[in-house]
Amino acid sequence: MHSYSLLASAKINLYLEIIRDRPDGYHDLLMVLQSIDLADQIDLRSTETNTIQVYCNHPEVPQDHRNLAYKAVAVMAEYFPHAFAKYGGVDITIHKRIPVGAGLAGGSTNAAAVLVGLNLMWELGLNHKQLQYLGSLLGSDVPFCIVGGTMLATGRGEYLTPLPAIDNFYVVLAKYRSLSVSTAWAYQTYRHQYLHSNVSNASVARHLNQRAYSGQIVSAIARQNQMQIYQLLHNDLERVVLPAYPQVQQLREEFQRLGCPGIMSGSGPTVFALTKSQAQAQQIVEAVNAAISDPDLELWISQFTNSSIRVLSFDN
Ligand code: C5P
Repeated sequence: MHSYSLLASAKINLYLEIIRDRPDGYHDLLMVLQSIDLADQIDLRSTETNTIQVYCNHPEVPQDHRNLAYKAVAVMAEYFPHAFAKYGGVDITIHKRIPVGAGLAGGSTNAAAVLVGLNLMWELGLNHKQLQYLGSLLGSDVPFCIVGGTMLATGRGEYLTPLPAIDNFYVVLAKYRSLSVSTAWAYQTYRHQYLHSNVSNASVARHLNQRAYSGQIVSAIARQNQMQIYQLLHNDLERVVLPAYPQVQQLREEFQRLGCPGIMSGSGPTVFALTKSQAQAQQIVEAVNAAISDPDLELWISQFTNSSIRVLSFDN
């Protein structure tokens, strides 16, 4: 029986700018993505059957074909039918620690772990580019989650350029347990309210791409200028999510009041703030808890990490 256990890290968006709406319904983006060490554990086990089973300790995570981890096995089985026939079906156990529906790429990173794990278990020898292509068939954040670290992402999120690792940042994350935001809703609402035409001209698109590589946040990261990184944190989706979700707006204001500006990650509703030390992160957690004493509010302290998927143990 072959098995792999992997850790799959969450991500935050240090920067998210919506460049244009596309004819395929998606949006071209300019993002800076960062892996953090808040991670799920994914156990993969080959079985003698030809079925795919998902088990998860979180009630809101689907345990069938709707789960992105299930879809990742299905894509691998479709592209590598001989390996699927040789090794048999797969049981996937997801130990959920990343909050669900939170804008932290929890589902995407689980799918990335399945692709990385099956590549090893089935001895396919695929490189990162090939795994990222398969990941792009599953979701816009999956290619990033294959490699992780600090990356500039353009296109739908699948064109990735590694940026220098950012050292010594702690992250305070806050989310109301019962709140989740539909990513599709957030982008569609933004499209209706703020985008009125497709930028289909190729030279305009090229210009926007060039701007990505010389953007202020990219320079701030290259220079490891922590103060500037704080100041340049940005997320366009806040323009639609904050008015519709006053609790998220309130969290953001609370971080601001504490002198530690927070922004929303992805399509939310998680709000995060960066601190330079664990002690400062702990103080923020205590202050937010004291100001908003709501049992529905959850807070975590995490740290930047330079990788996304890590193998914990295996039996080949
Ligand atoms: O790619 P993924 O399935 O994660 O995207 C979820 C939804 O988010 C899409 O259906 C789309 O509505 C929206 N989206 C978008 N532009 C992107 C990424 C996602 O409009 N670049």
